[in-house]
Amino acid sequence: MAAHEVICWDCGSAVDDPFANTCPRCGGLLTVRMDLEKVRGMRPEDLRKTPIGVWRYHPFMPVDPERAVSIKEGGTPLYTAPALGAEVGVPGTFIKFEGLNPTGSFKDRGMTVGVSHAKELGAKVVGCASTGNTSASLAAYAAKAGMKCAVFLPSGKVAAGKLAQALFFGAKVLSIDGNFDDALALARRMAEERKLYLLNSINPYRPEGQKSVLFEIMDQLDYDIPDRIILPVGNAANIWAVYKALTELEEVGWIDRMPMLTGIQAEGSAPVTRAFKEGKDDFVPEEHPETIATAIRIGNPISGRKALRAIYDTGGCSETVTDAEIIEAQKLLGRKEGVCVEPASAASVAGLRKLREAGVVDRGERVVCICTGNGLKDPDTIIGNCAKPIPCRNSVGDAERILSD
Ligand code: F0G
Repeated sequence: MAAHEVICWDCGSAVDDPFANTCPRCGGLLTVRMDLEKVRGMRPEDLRKTPIGVWRYHPFMPVDPERAVSIKEGGTPLYTAPALGAEVGVPGTFIKFEGLNPTGSFKDRGMTVGVSHAKELGAKVVGCASTGNTSASLAAYAAKAGMKCAVFLPSGKVAAGKLAQALFFGAKVLSIDGNFDDALALARRMAEERKLYLLNSINPYRPEGQKSVLFEIMDQLDYDIPDRIILPVGNAANIWAVYKALTELEEVGWIDRMPMLTGIQAEGSAPVTRAFKEGKDDFVPEEHPETIATAIRIGNPISGRKALRAIYDTGGCSETVTDAEIIEAQKLLGRKEGVCVEPASAASVAGLRKLREAGVVDRGERVVCICTGNGLKDPDTIIGNCAKPIPCRNSVGDAERILSD
């Protein structure tokens, strides 16, 4: 395990209480400061003896890889996407498909680290609020670790596949009368009263695992740094994790510049984008967030301020997309590249298209769109937006007639 300490991101003081989720001094957000002294003398190739995945990057991780709770997370493909790139006007488009993680989303990267740390602390009950993917992932890792798990979900707003996973892995599923922000407030109260160990991304160990998506992208591009990385923003920890990974690679001298981090939000749920457009470093919460992309239906993103820092420091930007643009981009990924992602994930591609049309993204840029979750998580949205199955009698004549239409 790499040496590290938990500190307050706002006031910088060291935080000793392993159960704290905010700074006991100033109430600020927490982060992990890694001691990367050992990595300084290494090269990326030195880590390539281990298969690609979260644990290849163990010198950047704050838990012991030997005792990790793992179901082989990460190692997801980075696709070139020539047909999609031609369609959106950016031929150098890549897709990092996080839907091929063990539970079908990028959350597994953070959860292997978060649950491993919870186990080191001796936690017996873990919990989280979720728009669906975090709960699916936590339920699986808790099962693997032999822990009890409670998940707090906004009633009626979680896609079918995600709900099925949390139930299947044996979590206690609490359907909360309210949205994600309400569910998170309740889960945090439970954690403060020590009823559970909280594994939302306010827990600083979660983003540590999520850094690995950036390490993998760099490895897969052989450290030929892309110009831009685009990702959907909900609770805003993932864009922060990618930024943190970049700062660490810069610190050890493996990169000398950063891609422009570009955060996309759904139009009805866009506090971070609004703050960016007003040039602010803090956001005003959205009271009634709404979007078809239920994964990012979040009005009060815990890591919103960190996300803004990530965007400003890398010279990136933030943009909104409509539900119609999201569905259009989701279809494009399927029809042009054979990749099935959930609506929130398609927001990155919808954002790329919009920013290219606006001239913010240059045609010649090399752009990685992170597609965060698998389309099978949300079959209802797909079925609702595709043509219906065609009734056909059990006869060649009927089938031929339909095919010739
Ligand atoms: N994409 C997907 C598929 C997600 O599930 C989420 C967040 C995001 C993007 C946004 O990532 O929150 O780090 O900015 N899902 C959380 C959940 C909130 O509960 O599953 P973020």
